[in-house]
Amino acid sequence: MTKVLFVVSECAPLIKTGGLADVAGALPQALGALGCEVRTLLPGYRAIMGALGKTKVVETYDGLFGGPAKLRACQVGGLDLLVLDAPHLYDRDGGIYGDAAGQDWPDNPERFAALSYVAAAIADKGAGKWKPEIVHGHDWQAGLTPEYLHALDVDVPFVFTIHNIAFHGNASAERLKTLRLDPDRFTADHFEFWGQISALKAALAGASKITTVSQTYARELLTPEFGIGMDGILRARGANLVGIVNGIDEGVWNPETDPNIKTYKTASGKAANKTALRKTFGLGKADGPLCVLVSRLTEQKGVDLLLHALPELLDRGGQLALLGSGAPELEVALSQAARAHPNVAVKIGYDEALSHQMMAGGDAILVPSRFEPCGLTQLYGLRYGTLPLVALTGGLADTVINASPAALASGVATGVQFNPITAQSLGHAFGQLCDLFAQPAVWKKMQRNAMKQAVGWDASAVKYKEIYDQLRPTDR
Ligand code: ADP
Ligand code: GLC
Repeated sequence: MTKVLFVVSECAPLIKTGGLADVAGALPQALGALGCEVRTLLPGYRAIMGALGKTKVVETYDGLFGGPAKLRACQVGGLDLLVLDAPHLYDRDGGIYGDAAGQDWPDNPERFAALSYVAAAIADKGAGKWKPEIVHGHDWQAGLTPEYLHALDVDVPFVFTIHNIAFHGNASAERLKTLRLDPDRFTADHFEFWGQISALKAALAGASKITTVSQTYARELLTPEFGIGMDGILRARGANLVGIVNGIDEGVWNPETDPNIKTYKTASGKAANKTALRKTFGLGKADGPLCVLVSRLTEQKGVDLLLHALPELLDRGGQLALLGSGAPELEVALSQAARAHPNVAVKIGYDEALSHQMMAGGDAILVPSRFEPCGLTQLYGLRYGTLPLVALTGGLADTVINASPAALASGVATGVQFNPITAQSLGHAFGQLCDLFAQPAVWKKMQRNAMKQAVGWDASAVKYKEIYDQLRPTDR
């Protein structure tokens, strides 16, 4: 058994704002099947504490960044959790990263430094009788872990996965002391970034191995455009950077068993779900494809490009059903588009069950992202026979086979990719999508290809396991 401690700020089904939670909820189980024993360290947010049931206190910490804390072990679904019960950091109203108005919590540096500190403490002294051989942190919230491992003089390998380089977890240098960081290491080769403390940089500098969530994103990260200031350190650490594409939880995302939908084995079973979805969104019948989009509404996701290109879809008789929440200006613009056109319907909010119904009922799933480390909704789309129309970037480039003449001729296409990532090129892609949709035999073939593509975790979990095996001591 390889003992691995996951350190992560969200985990499905307990708490989720995006794909990070999906990965944290599914990968440990896939690794379990390969002989890993994964325990997941999570912050004890109010929403989590209320949902845990029976827990066992395995450690206590007296002064953890401003208050006492307990480490609670429990099992939820197939996951072994270590929940950091620190009310002064996590027991509050609002979101997990910010208040109800969307402002980051001012003490986020301490909140996630505490998580990282406890990860290092577990690597040092264990959690109860359990001690990890590998610590595997995800995104900046786990980023300071190698600094604390160093401070505690713990020699346990640290693997770091970049899910999204856009979030750096920066804090003012005045916080060196409260964050218990060594001022002598506040340098460019450790965690100093343009005069600030960067949790992300600490991880990139200190990890034994860096992974990211697709091979294309691993290459893109080395460029100034995608590396967002971290491309230099990533180039320096390039030999230790590897891309491993995400999978999906096939227990949760499976059209044959999904409790949220009218289940189906082949794409013909989608028809009933399409009718139901149109009803849910108040859409009438139409000749063109019913496109769906489920997303956080941020600059990254290219929803503004979609708004510009939308006439190209609507003029061809297509429809759009969108579920999302985020930037207020995008929410307003989308709601306006829905009012202006009977074939556009928008629901602002977060709704897990509806997201499944959209995968089942849509003809095509849109992912027009400016950058996308991996992206999960196109993978759900493939599994449900809902063909992806995606930007050619990151994981979207790696997981969709574009319906080029050659791919169509050899019968392997699964979707449509557009490049450059502009409204104009998205408009052309809508034209291509509508052309394909108007050829039922071609469309059905693509759906069959999509539904048989391997999108689970099996192959990628093996790659993580190989990394753990390379890093842990070789005496067993
Ligand atoms: P990211 O992590 O950048 O948000 P991903 O595509 O990796 O992008 O993952 C997004 C996850 O969040 C998917 O599981 C998607 O279904 C889910 N999601 C995003 N927005 C919503 C929403 N408004 N309602 C329900 N699920 C959502
Ligand atoms: C990030 C990325 C997304 C990826 C997810 C899970 O949030 O934006 O592309 O799929 O993490 O790795």
